[in-house]
Amino acid sequence: MNDKRFTLGVMTSGGDSPGMNPCIRAVVRTAHASNADVIGILDGFEGLINGQFQPLGNRDVGGILQRGGTILQTRRSQRFLEKGCQREAIRNMNSAGMDGLIVIGGEGSLKGAHALAGQGVKALGIPASIDNDIWGTNMAIGVDTAMNTIMDAVDKLRDTASSHSRAFLVETMGRGCGYLAVMAGIVCGAEMVLIPEVPVSVEEVAKAVNEAYMRGKKHAIIIVAEGASIKIADLAKALDDMDVGFMTRVTILGHIQRGGSPTAFERMLAARLGTRAVEALLAGETDMMVGLQGRDVELIPLAEVTAQARQANMEYYEMARRLAL
Ligand code: F6P
Repeated sequence: MNDKRFTLGVMTSGGDSPGMNPCIRAVVRTAHASNADVIGILDGFEGLINGQFQPLGNRDVGGILQRGGTILQTRRSQRFLEKGCQREAIRNMNSAGMDGLIVIGGEGSLKGAHALAGQGVKALGIPASIDNDIWGTNMAIGVDTAMNTIMDAVDKLRDTASSHSRAFLVETMGRGCGYLAVMAGIVCGAEMVLIPEVPVSVEEVAKAVNEAYMRGKKHAIIIVAEGASIKIADLAKALDDMDVGFMTRVTILGHIQRGGSPTAFERMLAARLGTRAVEALLAGETDMMVGLQGRDVELIPLAEVTAQARQANMEYYEMARRLAL
């Protein structure tokens, strides 16, 4: 009889997002409660290639529930796409006695998990990226906290924008996906939202800002997704040159959106996804991502997840426009 305990590896990979730590905690504690051992992989796929491993016990994940970032550190690894690097990674996993792997990360990281699964590794993914561009889950880990950070920042900007009768152009992250910008448009009451999915001209923005001015608004807030067709600095200059009523100021929120203590929603999501991923891995599942669909946590094939990207919700985009009047 083979009485070796199941040993799973867990890593965080790609851009960090708030909620990764509570997710690691959920993975580690669910595994131990199921008589499995856990090895933490440092620095994402780079650590898998280099064999940077450390055992993780229940006490090692104490006190991290409320912390942003990731105790396992993370990297963006381009070379993991190379077959030779994947071979080294699998060799290291075998030497360490790892029977399965949980990858917590964004779209690129899930591609890495899928590639390993294609070579026989039992691998599951947990979606984590503030961009919310991952197919197959309503929410990725980090999105809700990032949204709250954006909301807090824009509320503050609106105060000063009103005092000075200014237009503020606020850049949100999200790469090619306008999710954060659209949601910010609604929850922050922005006058306009610019997203990669819907190209607009400088003239259209100028018209919207000028109309807001003419309607008697004290300020204008324009949320510009970083992937939008117009660059924020060019837009600010053009608006000032065109005299739209308000003078403009630019705020790039940047990496502040990636930090901070995870919200209650985030911790709950991290706990649910982390727990389910371990249960699924121990039940023999592989090449799957755990995702939130409706109110439920479901398994979605990584082949499906990695074949497409999620875009901003057009219904909410229209809602943001209507509510801006
Ligand atoms: O994918 C998360 C994200 O924060 C994007 O929104 C942004 O474009 C990118 O990562 C920034 O990457 P880095 O932290 O490597 O500068």
